[in-house]
Amino acid sequence: MEQKYHKKLVNASEMIKKAHQNKYAVGHFNINNLEWTKALLEVAQATNTPIILGASEGAIKYMGGYNLVVAMVNALLDSLEITVPVALHLDHGQSVESCKKAIDAGFSSVMYDGSHHPFAENVINTKEVVAYAKPNAVSVEAEIGTIGGEEDGVVGTGEIGDPKEASEMVATGIDFLAAGIGNIHGPYPTGWPGLNFQALEDIQTAAKIGMVLHGGSGIPQEQVKKAISLGISKINVNTELQIAFAAATRQYIEAGKDKPENGKGFDPRKLLKPGYEAIKTTFDELTAWFGCKGKA
Ligand code: 13P
Repeated sequence: MEQKYHKKLVNASEMIKKAHQNKYAVGHFNINNLEWTKALLEVAQATNTPIILGASEGAIKYMGGYNLVVAMVNALLDSLEITVPVALHLDHGQSVESCKKAIDAGFSSVMYDGSHHPFAENVINTKEVVAYAKPNAVSVEAEIGTIGGEEDGVVGTGEIGDPKEASEMVATGIDFLAAGIGNIHGPYPTGWPGLNFQALEDIQTAAKIGMVLHGGSGIPQEQVKKAISLGISKINVNTELQIAFAAATRQYIEAGKDKPENGKGFDPRKLLKPGYEAIKTTFDELTAWFGCKGKA
């Protein structure tokens, strides 16, 4: 069957395989709007770095829908003359239907997150997503265990993935696997015990394919490096870019630069510029840690 996505987008399968073989991790950066997407594509191109643009269902809804996101990314790939490998990935697709919608719209990669279902159901649904994705050359990520995170002020630590489940999940034909290894979405709380490297090693031994580290914001550099050496080949980052964007915007506003008496600094193209630049700087730093910088 013909590939539905734009010829310039690629799936994430080759990128992750290459990273896994060469012991580095490709950065998955969540996008929230036009500025985010443009900043990331520009810096990826300027640094010759492959990139996975992640969009969650919530962010897709916020931006105007699946078609809007695909059209925006494809148009930017053209107008910015992007030549580095770019994948557009559905982050934490909550249902088989969401994954199919993303594939139909032109996403080149999807994650089916069935971690909140019993494992048997997670496997059945993942198989259905793989069967729909493969003829369209779309890569698939699935999850075992759960990723911790904050809900109503309570930080859950998540459930550690089971190596037996890892091999069963890999047998569905997925391209890369996310697993709970003590990682958490959002800022890490004080007293966080760190990543569970033994669990990562055991899951990697069973899975043998590239693994995904969710909650990539705020993990100390030594832990990131060790995780990569043990099989992490994709690192998902959202919060860190949001914090960098907000801090730079705050600094601009606190300096009074948006005040009409100080000129035209209230123009959104000026107001959003410091945050835009902060996204680029953060990408630059993180991709150097991940080892994917310059690997296009
Ligand atoms: P952070 O927001 O903690 O960086 O996590 C992002 C993520 O894992 C998206 O899937």
